[in-house]
Amino acid sequence: MSDTTQAKGFSHQTIETNNWLMIILIVLVVAIGGLVEIVPLFFQRSTTEPVEGLKPYTALQIAGRDVYVREGCYNCHSQMIRPLRAETLRYGPYSVAGEFVYDRPFQWGSKRTGPDLHRVGGRYSDEWHEIHLTNPRDVVPESNMPAYPWLAAAQVDHTTIVKRMSALRTLGAPYTDAELAEAVAAVQGKTEMQAVIAYLQGLGLARKTMQ
Ligand code: HEC
Repeated sequence: MSDTTQAKGFSHQTIETNNWLMIILIVLVVAIGGLVEIVPLFFQRSTTEPVEGLKPYTALQIAGRDVYVREGCYNCHSQMIRPLRAETLRYGPYSVAGEFVYDRPFQWGSKRTGPDLHRVGGRYSDEWHEIHLTNPRDVVPESNMPAYPWLAAAQVDHTTIVKRMSALRTLGAPYTDAELAEAVAAVQGKTEMQAVIAYLQGLGLARKTMQ
């Protein structure tokens, strides 16, 4: 090694032959790179403000969303339409961040064994969904989606709905006291089937056209 390289002290060789120094510097570089990409998003209106017309989930939709999570629907269905022509032709306007501000946690998913569900709201009738969830083969013969017949027999748990909505309100969902007061009555006696259908029918309605 020449005298001049040694004199610099902090040469490539110093870093590449010292595991810990290398690890610390890698973490530092990745952390700075990450922060530069992520932090601005917290302050950008389009990622933190709801899009116009976005409504927080109703009590019944929240109950349905919990069923969706419990049954693992996200393992086969994404809720994230990408800005590609093939996707927008099939599913409708691509998803934007402002549509998910009331989703905690979001259900974007990453696996598409089945179609994306972000704009499925209003695409089929409630009756279609009920038949489909009870036995998908009855409406889509080639379907390999599992059947969920027990949803029609199970009642929504009405005892925790107010707590769930209050928690969401703490996190920013604009529920009024009146909505909280009516929540129990809105879900009591409803089946999980009705709840999950209410959830599906509300998906993606805020953005029906691409602006
Ligand atoms: C093992 C993978 C798998 C799981 C889990 C799954 N699905 Fe599916 N789903 C599919 C497939 C495949 C299709 C396409 C065929 C069909 O329509 O049945 C589909 C279709 C659908 C459709 C129709 C979408 C459209 O645009 O035509 C809806 C709605 C749906 N699933 C809801 C659900 C719900 C709600 C759950 C959880 C209770 C669920 N799926 C769980 C695989 C799955």
